[in-house]
Amino acid sequence: MIDNERVIKKIGTPTYVYDVAAILDRIKYLRDKLDADILYAVKANSFIVKEIEEEIDGYEICSKGEFDICNSLKINREKMVISGVHKDRPSIEEMIENYDDIRRYTIESVNQWELLLDVAKKNGRHIHTLIRLTSGNQFGVCEEDLKYIIANNDEAVMTIDGIEYFSGTQKHSIKKINKEVDKLITLIDTLHDELGFSVNEIEYGPGLPIFYYQGEEFDEEAFLDEVKPALDRIKEKGVKLSLEVGRSLVAASGRYFTSIVDMKSNKNGNFVILDGGINHLVYYGGTLGMRIPHFQIVRVLEDKAVNLNDGNQVEKIDEAVGDIPKELHVGTEDENGLITYNLHGSLCTVNDILVKNINARRLKLGDVFIFENVGAYSSTEGISLFLSRDLPKIAICDKDGNLKVVREVIKTSDINLPRY
Ligand SMILES: Cc1ncc(COP(=O)(O)O)c(C=O)c1O
Repeated sequence: MIDNERVIKKIGTPTYVYDVAAILDRIKYLRDKLDADILYAVKANSFIVKEIEEEIDGYEICSKGEFDICNSLKINREKMVISGVHKDRPSIEEMIENYDDIRRYTIESVNQWELLLDVAKKNGRHIHTLIRLTSGNQFGVCEEDLKYIIANNDEAVMTIDGIEYFSGTQKHSIKKINKEVDKLITLIDTLHDELGFSVNEIEYGPGLPIFYYQGEEFDEEAFLDEVKPALDRIKEKGVKLSLEVGRSLVAASGRYFTSIVDMKSNKNGNFVILDGGINHLVYYGGTLGMRIPHFQIVRVLEDKAVNLNDGNQVEKIDEAVGDIPKELHVGTEDENGLITYNLHGSLCTVNDILVKNINARRLKLGDVFIFENVGAYSSTEGISLFLSRDLPKIAICDKDGNLKVVREVIKTSDINLPRY
């Protein structure tokens, strides 16, 4: 469990913190609920990969960089699936030459298949693969190419274990998942009937959703109860099923801490400037702060931390609110003692809006916003080089509850500096 006060006092802001115990529980929950192996899509958050190694069934690694991270952390290579749309020859050579224990590679095109065959053959290796079926975009291959690869494969060099299929994220329609399963089952039958090929494994990315915004209602348990029989239909074909999951495994485990560094008002409203921004915080489907994510506001006083948006602590809040000098007041309270604020980051763009129009008790410099559900994609997808702002610290609350910083602040001015 993340202790907000400890994070603020010991580490400061801006910082991401990931709760490992929550992720471990989540892996077990999804595996039990869906009765399938769970592979973690490393792209969602590379900072927790080592912490989950004993629990997770495998890793879906989509670039040489992600491989280098996992390999540096001494992740068991028998858990690694090397995936991704651009597999360059030097990277594939390095992996195949040096390691004969990588679980498998995925094939995203006829060219990739030829490359993998060629490199494996030259190195006297036998490798295992899955062919990625396209969903109609730049990823994977069409059915004709898939059949061509199977029909022409050199089995002495490469075993094709089956199919990988991922069509997109944030899927909350059981109809869509059932349609995808239908497609996979038809393909399993076609490959068997036309080519005598047995699909032994399917690695399927169900794109399980996360609901990020206040007011959204979703009965996840009921949804997963519908997903399970859809997935069972694949297993009934005698196929081993693994699920590639990113967002749904780690999103809820992460919090992002950012402090108020400035405040002002003008005829258009009250503006709060935070030491973070859209360079650090990515909520899927969030457009210009129009939807309100789940967050807390904490004021750290000398002897205690007060949660400013927790209705149970109103008395303490009033006590804490009382110490803001009048000349520092920004905005006017309504009859309920609330002020409407717009939350902005530190970038030079009007688009750097985290949330618009939140109602809160009177805020002051140093108050900390803690955004929830940031464990997936925020630290990896943000436009973090813009304006040469520093990259935030990253901390982990490990499974025993210890808070450890696993990345100190990184200066992006070093990256953005031309060298003559
Ligand atoms: C091939 C592949 N598998 C799995 C994932 C993870 O998706 P999600 O985070 O929706 O679970 C992605 C995400 O882009 C992906 O590209």
